[in-house]
Amino acid sequence: MIDKARYDKPRFGAIRRLFGGDRPLESDHSLGARVLCIASGKGGTGKSVVATNLASLRASRGEKVLLVDFDAGLANAHLLLGLAPRFDMGHVISGDVEAADALIEGPEGLMLLSGGVGRHALANPTRRELDRLFRALRPLEQEFDLVIIDHGAGLGYGTVAHLAATSTLLIVTNPEVTALSDSYALYKRATMVNPHVVTGLVVNRCPTEAQANAGWDRFRGASERFLGHSPEYIGWVPSDDAVLQSVHERRPVSLTRPQSPAGVAIRTVSEWGPIDKARTSRAFYEKARKALR
Ligand SMILES: Nc1ncnc2c1ncn2[C@@H]1O[C@H](COP(=O)(O)OP(=O)(O)OP(=O)(O)O)[C@@H](O)[C@H]1O
Ligand SMILES: [Mg+2]
Repeated sequence: MIDKARYDKPRFGAIRRLFGGDRPLESDHSLGARVLCIASGKGGTGKSVVATNLASLRASRGEKVLLVDFDAGLANAHLLLGLAPRFDMGHVISGDVEAADALIEGPEGLMLLSGGVGRHALANPTRRELDRLFRALRPLEQEFDLVIIDHGAGLGYGTVAHLAATSTLLIVTNPEVTALSDSYALYKRATMVNPHVVTGLVVNRCPTEAQANAGWDRFRGASERFLGHSPEYIGWVPSDDAVLQSVHERRPVSLTRPQSPAGVAIRTVSEWGPIDKARTSRAFYEKARKALR
């Protein structure tokens, strides 16, 4: 159930408060929310941990945040947030419920659209089903300040459509060469379908800063050499038992243990400047629909 009191307040009031006074926002509000895609190519790098923490932190700052778990059929953002959604993307695709009614409220008032778990039909949505989903999500863009999309592993056409449509991409990778290689492949694909995408990279679950720097150097080296450009290095998140405890407790580490090494590092990631400017030139889900064709 959407908390009406929260979501009926004038749009963008929260962001205006963030930036102070009545300073006009930099772009046209009618276009809807800012959108941040979180992806990695490889599985298990920490995308959902980062996505759920960013969504909670941004919501705690007063922003109206929608977290979309786009790991259809293998969703787990709801587990990390301690939620038991009644509906998921599958119900929206089938038209059983309106997108707004499929949302569930999480920590700090963030809203989650779950990707659904274990239903075969959901694991490989067709282009037509994705088109139905994107069309259903389009009106929600007007209701939120920030939409964070947590992608699953791989480079399926659903993910590529998002990459083509987004203005802002956050790559969450690990220091291992396998993760760096898959993230490089994702970055290459993203910049091929969307040359202007603003991309930041985080090296997550890293034992030491030296290893994070070495991973970043490797990524940047390959990117600069073969593509002639590279993402912005946002920073690294240490490998931290506080994250494991928070997963066990089903509460984001940035809320339960904000002073832990991972909690502090993730807060820094949540303050990455381009998230405040992540608005597309046209409605995001319209662009994503077009990219599906
Ligand atoms: N900084 C960290 N320190 C310690 N453990 C971590 C850290 N980040 C993630 N993990 C662990 O890694 C696990 C996988 O993380 P997560 O589910 O976020 O990965 P993912 O990239 O979303 O995976 P998938 O590709 O399957 O969606 C978490 O359950 C958590 O136990
Ligand atoms: Mg995930």
